[in-house]
Amino acid sequence: MENETFIRRLPKAELHVHIEGTLEPEMMFDLAARNGVELPFDSVEEVRAAYEFSNLQSFLDIYYQGAAVLVTEQDFYDLMMAYLVRAHDDGVVRAEIFFDPQTHTERGIEFPVFLDGFTRAICDARESMGISAGLIMCFLRHLPPEDAVATWYEAKPYADQLIGVGLDSSEVGNPPEWFAEAFTMAQDAGLHAVAHAGEEGPPGYIANALDVLGVQRIDHGVRCEDDPSLVERLADEGVPLTMCPLSNLKLQVFERLEDHNLGRLLERGVVVTVNSDDPAYFGGYVLDNFVAIAGALDLSRDDLVQLARNSITASFLLEEDKDRFLEELDAVAVS
Ligand code: HPA
Ligand code: ZN
Repeated sequence: MENETFIRRLPKAELHVHIEGTLEPEMMFDLAARNGVELPFDSVEEVRAAYEFSNLQSFLDIYYQGAAVLVTEQDFYDLMMAYLVRAHDDGVVRAEIFFDPQTHTERGIEFPVFLDGFTRAICDARESMGISAGLIMCFLRHLPPEDAVATWYEAKPYADQLIGVGLDSSEVGNPPEWFAEAFTMAQDAGLHAVAHAGEEGPPGYIANALDVLGVQRIDHGVRCEDDPSLVERLADEGVPLTMCPLSNLKLQVFERLEDHNLGRLLERGVVVTVNSDDPAYFGGYVLDNFVAIAGALDLSRDDLVQLARNSITASFLLEEDKDRFLEELDAVAVS
């Protein structure tokens, strides 16, 4: 069996995908026309040609601009549904999906507009395809910590539509500990917590995300290797890393996919997972990421099964649901 077919059949969780990063250029144009929003591009090809990034910031500038076409509840529904259809096709049985409320509230779009669109699509997809999904609300770390606190207060009435909170955007110079207050309030309300750390920032940001914010997973975490004692800690404590190989390649975190440290960390016993981050911008959904990293690092079938297994165990599913998916996974692994 081809690697691609084998990986597609493995039940997988996607734990690191930004819904605004799933906005394909075609949908960007459709929504721009629907909402009368001017785009600085003349064609889909021109948009794709602009997706040449030198680092995280060069991507974020274009990514926030693209989100401006999202206006109505139906827009957010369409975006979410398109992602869930694609994820289901890749063999994703569970998706824990980031969104950036501040990108929308600062344009005057209120919580019920995007949250109801997302939630309606998640319910419809559950019914039509059986895929399970949950929402993780991210605070933008390039904005002041007080804005994160204010965002939490705005979100609180809708907390039952969320499974967790996260932290994203420009990492270097915006350390996790600044956001402790917003994270504590969300955790006190029963939400899970994750944070982007060690994508471009130092390993100390990973340690502080764990120790100060109390997060349960680290998003990216590739720079943990700069501190061998931290790698040992991640392995010992079973802290999952939600890695995104094609994102790291596109944002020049690694020059070549062959240089990626996912294989080494997996071998060290770190709970590594494979994810897509912003698939419309980085050239691949979760299956593409699996296939690319499997080829570049010459991963074995056992490694691929372990990566899929990690994604299920690292998810925020109930234990009984994890057990069910792990049984299905074991059946595929020996088939
Ligand atoms: N890093 C930080 N912020 C982000 C990313 C990322 O990879 N994608 C979307 N927002
Ligand atoms: Zn991300």
